[in-house]
Parts: sequence; structure tokens; C-alpha cells
Amino acid sequence: MVVVHTLADLRQHLSAFRHPALVPTMGNLHAGHLALVRQAKPLGDVTVSTIFVNRLQFAPHEDFDSYPRTLDADCQQLEAAGCDLVFAPLEAEMYPQPQTFKVQPASDLADILEGHFRPGFFIGVCTVVLKLLACTQARVALFGKKDYQQLMVIRNMVKQFAMPVEIVGGETQRSPDGLALSSRNGYLSPAERQQAVQLFATLTHIVETLRAGHPLEAADISSLESQAMQNLNRAGWKPDYVAIRRQSDLQAPHADDALVVLAAARLGATRLIDNLEV
Ligand code: PAJ
Repeated sequence: MVVVHTLADLRQHLSAFRHPALVPTMGNLHAGHLALVRQAKPLGDVTVSTIFVNRLQFAPHEDFDSYPRTLDADCQQLEAAGCDLVFAPLEAEMYPQPQTFKVQPASDLADILEGHFRPGFFIGVCTVVLKLLACTQARVALFGKKDYQQLMVIRNMVKQFAMPVEIVGGETQRSPDGLALSSRNGYLSPAERQQAVQLFATLTHIVETLRAGHPLEAADISSLESQAMQNLNRAGWKPDYVAIRRQSDLQAPHADDALVVLAAARLGATRLIDNLEV
């Protein structure tokens, strides 16, 4: 596996390939990222992973400075997972000048849920992903369903810009107790870590209720959402949202829509997100 830090080296190493498969990350890798790398392997003629903590997608009060940077351990794991090429640029390489051209995603998709609570987040994500796709000339790129809305925003971006890349989703990888793997889980104290499974349990409960079958009215949907928020609150969480949406566009569902339940909540100082398809 080759590790490069500059665009010039990246392009040089990629020049021998026609069909790069890309897994973009912010590093501090866990089994969720590595599952994407393994899934990418047969989809391209070279498997590329990027490690870049993208300042553009962090608000000033968020954890950009403290976000864990573990390049050596990440590279060891990537190599073991079969990655061929790692692009780990410094900020000055990705943003040699202030990035004044940015991607503005559609507000009906990007200003709801995560975008509502993290204004500008998807502008930052789309801008860096567009740039990483351009730099790597990826023909296929993989993103986790753990960040369900992100996957959808990127799919729509690529479609609207007619970019020659296929976007593939990967299933959410979880700890044995159900907690979705996340680089931010490392911020949890041991007591918080034990409690963290409540977010998955909340989603599971809603999914089971929805699957129980009888047709649900809009009022039932919003009472399920608010009960779940109350339960999380009572258990010491600060939920941003628990939302039952349709899978196709994350808007409020109508009868017979395929559903997804999404949640974001803070436990102590750590903000966790998760979702389950129904
Ligand atoms: P990061 O949080 O490092 O995640 C990189 C990729 O791994 C994303 O596609 C994310 O959805 C996926 N992922 C994270 N946890 C996962 C899990 N438990 N199971 C499966 N996949 C998981 O998401 C980002 O970085 C950034 O926003 C990025 C797309 C790299 C742009 O900066």
C-alpha cells in the first residue's frame, strides 16, 4: 500500500489505473470504515482511501481541533483491509487558498435533520467530496448508511452534476450491543458508553412498532417521535431529533412509503447519530 500526501503524487500513482474505487474518511478508522474498503475492493481496479479532517464541515464550536488524528494506526488497518493507495493531504494541499467556491446542496434535503442542527454542514461535506472525487477521478465511491442523509445528499449531488461516478452505500457496522461504530464513540466515558446503546434501542423500538403493521396516521408518527424524544430526555440525553421519514427523500411519509427512522442526540458532550431502515 502506498501513502501519498500531495495531489501530484496521488495523480502519478493513479495514472496507471482506469477505475478507482474510493472510500473517503476523516480517519480514526474503525470496522465501519474498513467494511467499506473491503466492499470497494472488487468494484475498482485500485482501492483508494482518503484521510482528511475537513474543516469546512465543522462549525466553530464543534470538535475540529480535538477530532482524533491517528494516521499511522489508520494506515496499518487500511493495508490489512486491502487498500492500495491512501491520500492523506495536509490542509494546505486541499485548501491552498480559502475555498471560496462551494457546493450548495438543495435545501429541502440538506437543511433538514442534520442540516437543521448543523447549518452549513452539508455544504462542507459536498464541497470536499466533490473535490476528492475530482482529485481521484473515482469511478465508484462508497459511503456508509450510518450517515444516511449524507449518503443521500452525495447521491443527489453526483446525479445533478452528471459526475461519472457510481455511489454505493454500505451497511452500518455496530458493536455487539448495537451501538453504531463511530470515531466519536471514543469521547464517551465508560458510563456513557454503557448508556449509549439506548439510542439504538430507541430506534429499534420504533421500527418494531412500525413493523407491527397497522396503518399509521400522521398523528401516530409524531407521537412515536415525541415519546422517543421524551424517553431519551428522561434517560439523560439531549436529543436533537428522532424522525420517521420516507427513505426516498427524507420527507414526512405518506401511506405505503418505505420508512427510515433517524436520530441525533447528545450524551454528555458527545453528539451521536444513528438510523434504521424499517
Ligand atoms: P467519516 O465519519 O470518517 O466516515 C467515513 C465513511 O465511513 C462515511 O461514508 C461514513 O458513513 C462511514 N461510516 C462511519 N461509521 C460507519 C459505520 N458504523 N458503519 C458503516 N459505515 C460507517 O463521513 C465522513 O467521514 C465525512 O463526512 C466525509 C464523507 C469523509 C467527508 O469529509
